[in-house]
This record gives sequence, structure tokens and C-alpha cells, in this order.
Amino acid sequence: MHHFEYQGSELWCEQVPLARIAEQVGTPCYIYSYATLERHFRVFDSALNTGGTKRHIVCYSVKANSNLAVLKALVSWGAGVDTVSRGEIFRALKVGADPKKIVFSGVGKRDDEIEYAIDKGILAFNVESHAELEAIERVAARMNKKAPVSLRINPDVDAETHPYISTGLKKNKFGIPVAWARDEFLAALKLPHLEVIGLDCHIGSQLTKTAPFRDAILRLGELTRSLVKDGVKLRYLDIGGGLGIPYNQEDPPSPAEYGLAIQDAMKAFAGLDLTLICEPGRVIVGNAGVLLTKTLYLKQSEIKNFVIVDAAMNDLIRPAFYDSYHAIWPVEKRGGAAYVADVVGPICETGDFLARDRSLAQKPVQGDLLALMSAGAYGFTMSSNYNTRPRVAEVMVKGAEFAVVRKREELEDLIRGETIPSFLG
Ligand code: LLP
Repeated sequence: MHHFEYQGSELWCEQVPLARIAEQVGTPCYIYSYATLERHFRVFDSALNTGGTKRHIVCYSVKANSNLAVLKALVSWGAGVDTVSRGEIFRALKVGADPKKIVFSGVGKRDDEIEYAIDKGILAFNVESHAELEAIERVAARMNKKAPVSLRINPDVDAETHPYISTGLKKNKFGIPVAWARDEFLAALKLPHLEVIGLDCHIGSQLTKTAPFRDAILRLGELTRSLVKDGVKLRYLDIGGGLGIPYNQEDPPSPAEYGLAIQDAMKAFAGLDLTLICEPGRVIVGNAGVLLTKTLYLKQSEIKNFVIVDAAMNDLIRPAFYDSYHAIWPVEKRGGAAYVADVVGPICETGDFLARDRSLAQKPVQGDLLALMSAGAYGFTMSSNYNTRPRVAEVMVKGAEFAVVRKREELEDLIRGETIPSFLG
């Protein structure tokens, strides 16, 4: 469900025609729908209200889309945040996120990041290794503070998703192996500057079934029962993010189905007073954003049609990196026959494609605007300056209004911070 719809032959976002945004802001640009964001957040949040757990916090995963306007909106609806760097914590605090709703994940936290997070009073470090436990203990001791930690467990569950975004298997770098978890908990409890508050897992992204979530939670349930016997008191259970969205033919569970599956699996924790934490990213922002691009040229090879557009792999890397599918909608429907082509950017790599052998609804002509759908998650945040291309503008639409929420970079932005040393004359 999203608010990018045709009115007559024109594609609109809420009450604004995309062509008007292109005219005023230029292309390429990302466009986010406030109403879609709100709907997705509220539907997800209420799906977790349906039963068992008394309390929950939706910690939106900042890496999916870290624009301040997006964060501000989510925080205003009560979201917490899942972060993986000092920079993401900084962003969240900038928009007034409650530190007591910030969790900090990631396998490679540096001392300065740990210090920053302790100083800001975050809810929990999601700790991924024994070495990290020791690092947090060391930094907290130096600061004469106690750091709240949850242990991220690797439950060895197959998320059945793309291998690059599967994180809960033995062979992945994430989390503490479930077989060693009890020992790690007991070790953490002995460290005087740590407060062990919970357990955590995140098994992967773009999951299209509920079973892997359930299996992971059940494994954590077994572990928890043995920890309770050891006298360990846990207050938080963080089940990560990962719920998928429909990009093409996928049929992922709805948030309501997901919520019911989670509540059912949570029976494994019956009798414990736990606050549930979820870290959704994609399901909140994915379909709330599109990448708007303009057709530069049509070109044919002996065997293919190419539609060359002004957006490229540096603006949206998902097709090149994961071979992912983003639907492509014409901003103005003129009718006519479908047209099969590769939609490619200007970058000097064969891997620079946004779609391959795609049947477009109509043959584009030069200057035609195209919308790459479902680009709100891991779109702008994974963009780069490759080929010294400026990062694109981001726009938020709310009803009949829109605003540029990140300016397009200019030439000077592209060389900011670079210097020519004096020894070069
Ligand atoms: N929590 C943790 C610890 C994570 O590592 C992630 C995503 C999330 C939550 C949010 O997962 P989500 O609900 O968005 O699935 N760049 C890839 C996705 C990478 C996901 C990384 N971790 C893509 O474009 O598909």
C-alpha cells in the first residue's frame, strides 16, 4: 500500500504530480510520501499490540533511510531507532529521538562510538562478540558508568533470502553463536560496568515468510529458560527487523500476519515480564519512496534496446548489487505497446543497470520521466559519488505540499574536504 497513484494519465504522490516536482527540483530525485510512511509505521506498531507482550518499542532501522525529515516524522509517532554507527545515533538525536529508545547494533563498534553511545544514555548495545563485551566494559569503566547491554544471538536459522542480507546463519559474521550464549551471558554478568538487560537477534532482511522469525524466537526462548534457571534477569527481547515488501511477485506476510506469528512465538517466554523490541527498516520506508529519473537517450545495439536515464547505480545500487527488481512506472501514461529494454544509467560499467530485459508499459521518448518504485529503503542511504556524480535531492510530500529535505549536491560539495598537499607544488 502506498500513495503513488495515477490521476488520469499522470503519476502523483499524494496530491502532487511527480512532473511538478521534476520541474521544480530537477532529476534524479528521491520522493518520499509522508502519508505512506505514517500508515506503514502505524500499521506495524499496532500489529505488535495484538496480544501477549505488554510493551513493545518499534526501533526503526535508520540504515534503511536516514534522512532527517523521515526520522523526524517517525520519532513524532513514537518510534525509537535501531542504529549501527555514531553517525546514526547523531542523526536520531538531532530529531529529538528519546535516547532510551535507541539501540546500537553492529559487529565492529569502535571505542569512540561506544563512548558516544554511553554518554548519550542509549537503551542498549546489541553486543555481537566476547571481544565487544570487553571493549564496552573497558570504555564504561573509564567513564565510571554502567553500560546497558543485550547479547545478540546468532540462532542459526535460514532466513531464506538473498545471501548478502542473510545474517542468522552459523557462517555469518553476526551475533554470538546460540551454543555459546549461556556462557557469554554468565561472563557478561561478572563485568562490573555492564548491565545485562536483554537478548537480541536479527536473522536477515527482505524475509517473505514468518517461519524463520518464529524459529529464531523459539530458539531464544529455550536459551532464556536456561538463563532464568541460572538466575539471569532479562527485561528486553529484541527480534530485529527483516519483514519483506512486495517489489515484484513476492507475497510477504502482512504486518498483521507477522505480528500474530511473533505473538504466538512469544509464548516461549510466558511468565517473563519482557518488553519486545522490533527493528523494522524496509517495511516502513521501502514502498514510501520512489526514485524519479529522466530519459536521456534511446539506443539500440544489434540485440537490445537501451533506455539511458539520468539516474545510475551510484544513486540506486540495489539492482547492480543484489540483482534486485524495482518496478518502473511512466510518469505520464500515453498508451501504446509495451517496450522491452535495459534501463541503464550513464556510469562507465556494464553493471550500471536499473533494470534488465524489462517490459516497460510503453516506449519512452527523450525527456520522459520514469519512477523507480519501492526505492525508499536502501536507496539514498547506499548512494555514492562514484563517477563524481552529485548525490541527488530528496523530497518529502505531505498532502498537497512538498519540500526538498536534502539538497542536490553541487560541484563544490563533490570536492569538499579534499586538499592538494604543498609537496605537489
Ligand atoms: N536490524 C539490524 C541489526 C539490521 O542489520 C537490519 C538490516 C535491520 C534491523 C533492518 O532490516 P529490514 O527491516 O530493513 O529488513 N541493503 C540491503 C539490506 C541490508 C539490510 C541490513 N540490515 C538491501 O538493499 O536490500
